Amino acid sequence: MAVANGNDFGANNKVLLLIGAGQIGLAITRRVGTDTVIVVGDKNKEAADVTAQLLTTAGFRSFSCVCDLSERASIQAAIAVAQQYGQIHYLVNAAGVSPSQASIETILKVDLYGTAVLLEEVGKVIAKGGTGITVSSQSGHRMGALSAAEDEQLATTPCEDLLKLPLLQVENVKDTLHAYQLAKRCNEKRVMAEAVKWGTRGARINAVAPGIVVTPLAIDEFNGPRGDFYKDMFARCSAGRPATADEIAHLAELMLSDKGAFITGSTFLIDGGATASYFYGPLKPQA
Ligand SMILES: NC(=O)c1ccc[n+]([C@@H]2O[C@H](COP(=O)([O-])OP(=O)(O)OC[C@H]3O[C@@H](n4cnc5c(N)ncnc54)[C@H](O)[C@@H]3O)[C@@H](O)[C@H]2O)c1
Repeated sequence: MAVANGNDFGANNKVLLLIGAGQIGLAITRRVGTDTVIVVGDKNKEAADVTAQLLTTAGFRSFSCVCDLSERASIQAAIAVAQQYGQIHYLVNAAGVSPSQASIETILKVDLYGTAVLLEEVGKVIAKGGTGITVSSQSGHRMGALSAAEDEQLATTPCEDLLKLPLLQVENVKDTLHAYQLAKRCNEKRVMAEAVKWGTRGARINAVAPGIVVTPLAIDEFNGPRGDFYKDMFARCSAGRPATADEIAHLAELMLSDKGAFITGSTFLIDGGATASYFYGPLKPQA
């Protein structure tokens, strides 16, 4: 769906490609999307349309398209839509499914494989000086260390072989939370490896790893089988509350802007102290 607000839609604009039309993606996009054409891709067409319309009525220039992060062809199609308006200068990847929303297989296909493909495909066309951010999670920071070989496999295995790795086989994944943690760990390793390639184009790619942020995804978790666990997590972290999407966007804005010019290949934890408390405070699991 095209949502125009009367501005120039020629092919020489800076383009921001937002994948995932949810709360965190919207908050980040509003920080950096001025003077760009924003293409909003989401698996859910209505969600993409609503976010593009919201941006347009707030003075941004925005279009929507359907993009399923779990399909390479769908990612390539969204990039092609974006390129109709100019070169991609910003990537915001805020699409994903949570442990209470999907099966192990779907979490690995969307959050792990899809993110890897998106970073690879945008990395082939990102403008000089361009920057990207992908939303990981503090959840990946709680999982125990993987071996150095496994970390390297997550970072560098060709995308189409990633889901064949032994540590990602369903029989080796305990449950959907474990799948989510593996996906988010992989996001961070992929960001490091991709930063090297993006750097050869004069571009940067990073990740943010939020704690609990109140969004539809988090509300599904509060109402899911691990609801008490999540509520306890924010009650007993230093902040004593969940975050708003805007708080995540403050950090993302720094990383995406010129002030973040020395930041690439990094994942910033932003969780109100939940990970610190998990290892060294009241959230530490009892032996
Ligand atoms: N909310 C939190 O507490 C929290 C914490 C840490 C990390 N995250 C991560 O933040 C990201 C954004 O989540 P949010 O909290 O803004 O949730 P949200 O529900 O507001 O948005 C998620 C969006 O992703 C879209 N989506 C789902 N599957 C997709 C697919 N296959 N292809 C394209 N789009 C798809 C959904 O339709 C939705 O619009 C996710 O990666 C999530 O894992 C969220």
